[in-house]
Amino acid sequence: MESLAGHAYLVTGGGTGIGASVALRLAELGASVAVLGRRKEPLDALVVEVERRGGQALAHPADVRDPAAVEAAVEAIEARFGKVDGLVNNAAGNFVAPAENLSANGWRAVVDIVLNGAWNCTSAVARRLIRDGRPGAVVNVVATYAWTGHPGTVHSAAAKAGVVSMTKTLAVEWARYGIRLNCVAPGPTETEGAGAALWGSPEERERVLSSVPLRRFASAEEIAGLTALLLSDRASYITGATLTADGGQSLGRQIYGTPVEELAESRS
Ligand code: HXC
Repeated sequence: MESLAGHAYLVTGGGTGIGASVALRLAELGASVAVLGRRKEPLDALVVEVERRGGQALAHPADVRDPAAVEAAVEAIEARFGKVDGLVNNAAGNFVAPAENLSANGWRAVVDIVLNGAWNCTSAVARRLIRDGRPGAVVNVVATYAWTGHPGTVHSAAAKAGVVSMTKTLAVEWARYGIRLNCVAPGPTETEGAGAALWGSPEERERVLSSVPLRRFASAEEIAGLTALLLSDRASYITGATLTADGGQSLGRQIYGTPVEELAESRS
């Protein structure tokens, strides 16, 4: 198993959902974790849970859209843990809306959180790594619709595509500093935030499930494990890559011939 002992990481959106699972997993692997998010309560609860398990964690309420607040958060991490070795850009905002109904503010809110937020945090952490001459790793949580596109989420899809491009660009630009940047692209994952934003009713949930060849949602823990792997030295030769974990969802649906489900039924 990989070890992250002695390392310190920032996880954005770390109070809930995938971010909370990532923070717990990093702590389990020996890292100190700082969780950043807008609401203080879930961050505090996460810190309590990490400490209960014997780890070290810091809660820092901040909005990733605010560069000064991000800067202050990274300073607080350095003050507490002495350094920061990397970052997981997990904070996201999303809702489904026909593009023609999307207001300027709706577009801005999502692009600001997803793309500008990822940049604010990445630049704040990386500038310190470069200043101190230390290597580091960044993992950005994206979605497969960054490259497939997806009707109803033009703001999020465009922003995530920007994050993928940013990841590839910086992977090359900062390779000389020993900073690796990668993405993980989860499919539908069993979390409250995504569920509320993307599959609010039982019918919508069923429709999402039917789009996944593996016929289930991902667990936040599965995605957290992959994120930790990409941060760790086991991924030391991987940079600029995107690891897709979507149960096959983005590979397309059957168009030709008898549906495979019917073939399977006729054999049983
Ligand atoms: C239409 C909406 C809307 C909705 C908000 N807006 N929700 N428009 N339908 N359901 C519009 C508002 O009317 C407003 O525009 C603008 O968006 C900003 O909304 P605010 O609530 O004022 O902004 P803010 O408080 O910053 O909230 C940002 C947010 C919010 C993104 C809108 O939902 C949020 O903070 N969400 C965080 C949690 C989240 O979404 N998690 C899900 C991530 S799932 P006007 O013009 O009225 O001012 C994910 C996974 C994707 O990303 C991959 C799946 C496979």
